[in-house]
Amino acid sequence: MEKLIEQMKVVLADSFVMYTKAHGYHWNVEGKLFPMLHDFLGDIYAEVYGSIDSTGEQIRQIQGRAIHSLLEFDKYRTIPDAPITVPTDNTGMLTDLFSANQLILASLMKAYEMANANNEDGLSNYLQDRIMAHKKHAWMLRSTLNKAGE
Ligand SMILES: [Fe+2]
Repeated sequence: MEKLIEQMKVVLADSFVMYTKAHGYHWNVEGKLFPMLHDFLGDIYAEVYGSIDSTGEQIRQIQGRAIHSLLEFDKYRTIPDAPITVPTDNTGMLTDLFSANQLILASLMKAYEMANANNEDGLSNYLQDRIMAHKKHAWMLRSTLNKAGE
């Protein structure tokens, strides 16, 4: 159970980092595609932000301590922080966010396998939902990137 709690902290930290990254790109995106990308990135950050509270609560339900300091998020995250110099092209931003999404998917899959091994069925269901949400983000980011160079 202790390993599952630790992995859930990774999921929480990755969710927070992906949220801040998507929100920052929502603010800083520029160019002809601004209206579409600003809204698209807005949808992603809102969806990921909406999961953070329930992920923290899931940690409490398995009797772990929900991390909440920026230093702890930095310690547990697998997603690299956003670059200080924001990518100047949309493809750079979207590629970075796609990579972040792949990393959080890997963290979620690991937590899901551990939840199954611990017979934590409710948590398994929750993680399945998060995996599906991030697979949808992967599809949309990948499809947007396919058109970004046109
Ligand atoms: Fe906004």
